Amino acid sequence: MQVLIFENKQKVAFFAAQLFKELLQLKPAATLGLATGSTPIELYKELVKLYEKKEISFSKAASFNLDEYYDIDEGNRNSYRYFMNSMLFEKIDINLKNTYLPTCNQYQNPGQQGKHYEALIQECGGIDLQLLGIGANGHIGFNEPTSSLASRTRIKSLTPQTIQDNSRLFEKGESQPQLAMTMGIATILDAKYIVLLATGEVKARAVSDMVNGSLSANCPASALQMHPNTIVLLDEAAASQLKNKEYLQWVANQNESIVKKHGYFKDL
Ligand code: F6R
Repeated sequence: MQVLIFENKQKVAFFAAQLFKELLQLKPAATLGLATGSTPIELYKELVKLYEKKEISFSKAASFNLDEYYDIDEGNRNSYRYFMNSMLFEKIDINLKNTYLPTCNQYQNPGQQGKHYEALIQECGGIDLQLLGIGANGHIGFNEPTSSLASRTRIKSLTPQTIQDNSRLFEKGESQPQLAMTMGIATILDAKYIVLLATGEVKARAVSDMVNGSLSANCPASALQMHPNTIVLLDEAAASQLKNKEYLQWVANQNESIVKKHGYFKDL
């Protein structure tokens, strides 16, 4: 796990956007794993800017989102489909037909839908770069604490904390889904590269559990310790509880010249 600490969230987003640019230049038909939530919004703005400047194209790419609420209409402004379309897909040249979310409505079998999503990812050659945020409780996707580290795409109950954290996005009195379909931890670990973004003090504890804590289903993000190509991009606030900041900075400096010479996606 490589950890890079930036002054602020704009710099985190800028660096992450450069990673996507580098990947798509190397492999225009890349399969991207995408996330929703507040954290990637700045990154999506950066990607739109790069597209408008003709520095990046998504025309041959495919995308798979981490999660989607159970039994939600895609036109519902709280659906993750709505989020992705309005924040990114409608502003770039990706073919909407190549953008996938793990949907399941009340008439469908969640087990079959999960298997279907996994198969679709395989058909597209697997995920080249998976983008992640992290919950204040250490979740990735909607893999809440105690989720199996071997889990695959499936239906999950959200924890009261996650429901509370996300309630800011719902109007008063509006019904808020309590179930979601999510890629599993094993699905995420299958990605060739992973980039996790975390910004703000509220993420500091989860970040330190992920980086400095032991591997445990109690902090699902700690499973990334098992992944060979994960880069974690933090702002100062999210990094504030890390125990070994100086060492991580030293490693980052050492790696910089290698990355400059060979690029980040050397094993693609
Ligand atoms: C989003 C997702 C979640 C979020 C996490 C952080 O698709 O899977 O794991 O990444 O809840 O959310 P924000 O960025 O809103 O703090």
